[in-house]
Amino acid sequence: MADHKRIAMFISGRGSNFMAIHQGVERGEINGRIVTVVSDQPEAAGLDYARSRGLETAVFSLGGGEKRIAYFDHITANLADKDVHLVVLAGFMKVLSANFIARYRNRILNIHPALLPSFPGTDAQAQALAYGVKYTGCTVHFVDEGVDTGPIVLQAVVPVLDQDEVHTLSERILEQEHRLFPLAVKLFCEDRLEIRGRRVLVHASEINPARLP
Ligand code: GRF
Repeated sequence: MADHKRIAMFISGRGSNFMAIHQGVERGEINGRIVTVVSDQPEAAGLDYARSRGLETAVFSLGGGEKRIAYFDHITANLADKDVHLVVLAGFMKVLSANFIARYRNRILNIHPALLPSFPGTDAQAQALAYGVKYTGCTVHFVDEGVDTGPIVLQAVVPVLDQDEVHTLSERILEQEHRLFPLAVKLFCEDRLEIRGRRVLVHASEINPARLP
């Protein structure tokens, strides 16, 4: 198999998806290494976990008046010497700049707690309850310039129960996120994902780049 992939993990809070992916790396299930954990929030709980596991962390707070473009240019400059193959957005709450997306085109994965294209943006679980859908779930997708619009890698379905409230539904979706996101990262790290237009094909084994269209 090809060399391991170098992963930059972006978080803003609890970091439970980051932890699930890190555990996949530690167990040797993911052919990758988390080379940095980036947070926009100095108090993000996920940073404590990262430090306790000896991972490099970096906090980039968006200063008052600083523009989003400059903010992400600054992060890009800091990632430059890390040879990052994959950026993982694990509950990262800032919208990326166009420059950043272009720099890591087709190499940024995000998880969203709904079955896209339904309920993009914030409070996806509350949106699903308010709409009255019987099934929702989670989606791992590549990031493009839109909000939760990039090509879909994997989805998992979660039924909505009559007695559900936002927190109970969110908990059951989160269980699926912790299964789905490490799997998507694993597939990426094994060069098994092929983006064809809006579709992402999952190959049984590593893709030989010479055979791609
Ligand atoms: C998850 O529900 C994820 O789908 C959303 O933000 C939440 C992050 O949770 N994008 P955590 O920080 O990974 O625990």
